[in-house]
Amino acid sequence: MIVVEHLSKSYGALAAVSDLSFRVERGQVVGFLGPNGAGKSTTLRILAGFLGASGGRASIAGFDVVEERLDALRQLGYMAETSPLYPEMKVREYLAFRSELKGVPRTKRRADVDRCLELARVSDVAGVLIGHLSKGYRQRVGLADALIHSPPLLILDEPTAGLDPNQIREVRALIASLAENHTILLSTHILSEVEATCSRAVVLAKGRLVAIGSIDELRGRGRPELILTLRGDEAIIRQVLSETAGVGSRVIEPHGEALRATLSLTAEDEAGQAETTERIVHALATATVGIREVRTTKATLEEVFAALTQHEARTENEAEAKR
Ligand SMILES: Nc1ncnc2c1ncn2[C@@H]1O[C@H](COP(=O)(O)OP(=O)(O)O)[C@@H](O)[C@H]1O
Ligand SMILES: [Mg+2]
Repeated sequence: MIVVEHLSKSYGALAAVSDLSFRVERGQVVGFLGPNGAGKSTTLRILAGFLGASGGRASIAGFDVVEERLDALRQLGYMAETSPLYPEMKVREYLAFRSELKGVPRTKRRADVDRCLELARVSDVAGVLIGHLSKGYRQRVGLADALIHSPPLLILDEPTAGLDPNQIREVRALIASLAENHTILLSTHILSEVEATCSRAVVLAKGRLVAIGSIDELRGRGRPELILTLRGDEAIIRQVLSETAGVGSRVIEPHGEALRATLSLTAEDEAGQAETTERIVHALATATVGIREVRTTKATLEEVFAALTQHEARTENEAEAKR
């Protein structure tokens, strides 16, 4: 549905987006994640045809966003970071105006406006001046606007920015209901947002791709720690652990009557980590060490995100290698 290839955009000397490539398949709900200034809005503006790229290309449903701009635009509804709504227009009036601009046939217009008022849950303020609406309502009018020409793809730039927790919950529920029959690319700098609404994420830092994958895959990029509570001779335990392949750093300390070993595992993937765990348990049991507890602590997505976006230079190479 979205193909971005080697996209870049500079503002003078500043490279806001550098050599960015990613794809979004039809039906996916993808989080576009990165700290402030990462280049999210710049990328989304290019996709929505508002901004020209300095290099590379992008297409929506096979239509190049520059060369086949109008065809591409027909496929997508875009909600900007700050929607340029007209404060002196009433909600229904504004949506009718927007649907005309977007070329919705006159005969369909009224029904489409009603449908979007419903979809974005703004029917109750249809006759209210936009300038009199709360931020949450205005945001939803922006969403209704994005939906007005029935596009299969929604591109939403920080749809919950500036909303209070109740409004955030409402907008999230709205996105979840739209996800049933839309492809959605949604930018945010808030991780929990992605965990709540998206199945996949594209992670950006300083204009570069640092990670892409399902939420579970991204979470899996954090190295888990293996925690063992053991009874036995400390020297033997230390020796067994030092001889077992796949064990990185280890901390062994007294824990009540027992010993607590906290180990980092060097395996990249879950299968490898599980194998290492089996090897460790087997080696300890063979050395007649008593095993009271075996437990792994998973890195939180939060930790993974922090690591990814703080070491973008290093992970950039990994991302490159994966292509
Ligand atoms: N019109 C502009 N002129 C100059 N610099 C800009 C402009 N828009 C954005 N930038 C800069 O480009 C970088 C990326 O911005 P942006 O795409 O808005 O990031 P994000 O949406 O991820 O917060 C930032 O450093 C920002 O200051
Ligand atoms: Mg932004």
